[in-house]
Amino acid sequence: MGLRTAGSVLVVFLWSVTVVLSQKGWSVTYTTQSICTLKGSTVEMSCSYTYPSGTVTTTFWFTKKYAVENYVNLRNDSNYKGRVTYRSDKMNGHNLTITDLRESDSAMYKFRFITDQTGGKYTGDPGVTLSVTDLQVKVTTTWWSTTLTCSTTCTLTGNPTYTWYRNSKIVQDDSSPSYTVYFKTEDSFYCAVKGINSNAVSVEGHSYFHVTYTHQRICTLKRSSVDISCSYTYPSGHTVSETIWYTKENLMRCLKS
Ligand SMILES: *[C@@H]1O[C@H](CO)[C@@H](O)[C@H](O)[C@H]1NC(C)=O
Ligand SMILES: *[C@@H]1O[C@H](CO)[C@@H](O)[C@H](O)[C@H]1NC(C)=O
Repeated sequence: MGLRTAGSVLVVFLWSVTVVLSQKGWSVTYTTQSICTLKGSTVEMSCSYTYPSGTVTTTFWFTKKYAVENYVNLRNDSNYKGRVTYRSDKMNGHNLTITDLRESDSAMYKFRFITDQTGGKYTGDPGVTLSVTDLQVKVTTTWWSTTLTCSTTCTLTGNPTYTWYRNSKIVQDDSSPSYTVYFKTEDSFYCAVKGINSNAVSVEGHSYFHVTYTHQRICTLKRSSVDISCSYTYPSGHTVSETIWYTKENLMRCLKS
């Protein structure tokens, strides 16, 4: 029974600690706490806040704080000039929109508000982590194919789909980040996500096992001779020991000496 009483006291004690930590009545709730998005795109961060009493006089988002009470309102930050929009509603919602994102915008964004009451100031911690990435095409070559992968430095929020372009024409839409090419080509490729394009790559110079025939159709005279020719490529590191011409019916074999 003594143990049971001690337990109840402990529960009451922990409960009061929680109340002190959350600063009764003050809160900022962010809709999303972590965002990974593309360079050049637009991001919106949203939050809602509560406070115990008074009237809110100032609201802003910031990433930098130089000293106690020296916060840099994002709208006054020269690095964000002309790219920041605030929107608020009567339900204590506040949104931040940043356009034309740069990789240097990757940071922790926090919302702060001030009321007309003494000591009535609050910052929502920990804030929203924004990671801005560009799209890079990575090339992986095997003996028989080249796989192009559209890569990012963080996993894009919302699992968007990828579009692949070959010489600026769509070849794979609504797809995974990878595209595979099976033949030697001099075409150029790039990927895109939500209208943002990657760098373009050419897979020229990658060679696989591939044969190119000089003529694909030959019409010639009875009793004349014909020259059928081709050229072939193979991956470096291989040595050709045997070449064969064949038809469906028979094999014409010649061994390389
Ligand atoms: C910050 O910008 C607001 C307008 O968005 C302006 O009223 C205010 O004076 C600026 N503050 C500083 C410190 O420049
Ligand atoms: C803020 O963004 C959220 C989510 O995108 C949206 O539901 C809300 O209406 C926006 N609020 C304002 C004030 O723009």
